[in-house]
Amino acid sequence: MAAHREDDLTLSRSDLADDPFEQFDAWWEYAADKVPMPEAICLSTVDAQGMPDARMVLLRGHGPDGFRIYTNYDSNKAAQLDGQGVAALCLFWRELDRQVRIRGTVKRATAEESDAYYLSRPPLHRLGAWASPQSQPIENRDELERRLAEAEERFAGEEDVPRPENWGGYVLEPDVIEFWQGRIGRLHDRFTYTPDGSGGWTIQRLGP
Ligand SMILES: Cc1cc2nc3c(=O)[nH]c(=O)nc-3n(C[C@H](O)[C@H](O)[C@H](O)COP(=O)(O)O)c2cc1C
Repeated sequence: MAAHREDDLTLSRSDLADDPFEQFDAWWEYAADKVPMPEAICLSTVDAQGMPDARMVLLRGHGPDGFRIYTNYDSNKAAQLDGQGVAALCLFWRELDRQVRIRGTVKRATAEESDAYYLSRPPLHRLGAWASPQSQPIENRDELERRLAEAEERFAGEEDVPRPENWGGYVLEPDVIEFWQGRIGRLHDRFTYTPDGSGGWTIQRLGP
């Protein structure tokens, strides 16, 4: 067993749900109390020149309509997501030796969805969304602190800090979802789900 793993986990075709969202949900539930931060996921994008980019974000929702993340709509990633309309997500759960890869098309979440998630965040996080000019150069730390103080002053006494218009969600609708289970001896288990063209999914085992 790999030293970092707590379980001798395997994945066979008969273990898999027919639907990748159900399969993801099963893994998600299993990870909940075993992985310290299961929602940390790498979001890869492509810019207008075809240059790839990647950064960690938090997975804030998943289901048959897609995988959700939230960010600043003026950020570099937003320009890449809006511009190219495609993205990939990749997570690794070290404690379980599991990887999930998701590729597909992206669109912005509705304003209602973004409002609902924004209002569920702690007050300081909400103010942070107002204060940070994400991906833009800033002079120094003081500028950031000053911007936060301005936001605090602006919304002092307001029960709910409203969502800035330039902050919200993206939904990635997958074209392919891959589940990878690390195995002893490096012959890992790896399965992809791709749409079968009639509303279902084709499942294939791939060489690891
Ligand atoms: C674990 C982790 C989680 C993060 N979650 C988010 C997130 O949910 N949304 C976000 O905009 N940035 C998040 N960040 C910051 C991003 O990695 C990145 O620095 C920022 O979004 C700017 O990226 P960009 O310039 O490519 O747009 C997170 C960073 C880490 C390390």
